Amino acid sequence: MSKAAATATDRSDPPVIPAHVAIIMDGNGRWAAARGLPRAEGHRRGVEALRRVVRAANDIGIQYLTIFSFSSENWTRPKSEIGDLFGLLRRFIRNDLASLHRDGVRVRVIGERDRLERDLCAMLDEAQELTRDNTKLNLVVAFNYGSRQEIANAAQRLAREVAEGKRDPATIDIETLGRYLDAPDIPDPDLIIRTSGEQRLSNFLMWQAAYSELVFVPIHWPDFDKAALEGAIAEYARRERRFGGLAAKTGS
Ligand code: FPP
Repeated sequence: MSKAAATATDRSDPPVIPAHVAIIMDGNGRWAAARGLPRAEGHRRGVEALRRVVRAANDIGIQYLTIFSFSSENWTRPKSEIGDLFGLLRRFIRNDLASLHRDGVRVRVIGERDRLERDLCAMLDEAQELTRDNTKLNLVVAFNYGSRQEIANAAQRLAREVAEGKRDPATIDIETLGRYLDAPDIPDPDLIIRTSGEQRLSNFLMWQAAYSELVFVPIHWPDFDKAALEGAIAEYARRERRFGGLAAKTGS
């Protein structure tokens, strides 16, 4: 359990800052449609919101911010939109990497690499390498990511070790499987935010979300800002996290 989670029920110790916030940045298309703009413009404004929120998260003292940038299901979108999203990721890294590095942000990437072009993989590796010693916000970019695939990959690697006689199946417990996920050193998210009013996880961090607090906000992602992030954190701070145990005693 993270330190922030451990203090989540202690109302005498404000402000309660979640160590790990994960965001499903939803609603770019609807934001654009409501303004008669192409979906691409919604995604472009989505990147601006992302810049604001990374800065805000760093200011607030959040340690990990995971963003769902492209899901393994997003391949079903029209080719042109997929191209727009890939273009935005490339531009985000090209234009923002230096300032993220200056701000002490460490970039991590999770998700499958198999369908990504080689030069994009090189850019992602370079971003991780350049920022690996940074100690402020960890920005975890989930790109071509899907939770079921991540869990299936972990199961496959463990099964291979068993087949090769390197592992006793009895050793496969929750901690072991967790260590075979994409970023085992990153603590589970304390808070998962989804914008645009939809209320589901959509194959995002399903293993890691076992005890996350979920906050759904009605605004579309391009309108999300520091105040909205603080609002979601305030809602999180009001929640009582029990992790399957009993409620903390009050008044004693
Ligand atoms: C959901 O909006 C958003 C996405 C599918 C991708 C999120 C991407 C960004 C915020 C911009 C890209 C950022 C990087 C770093 C690549 P939607 O299109 O599903 O919106 P809708 O549900 O209203 O149609």
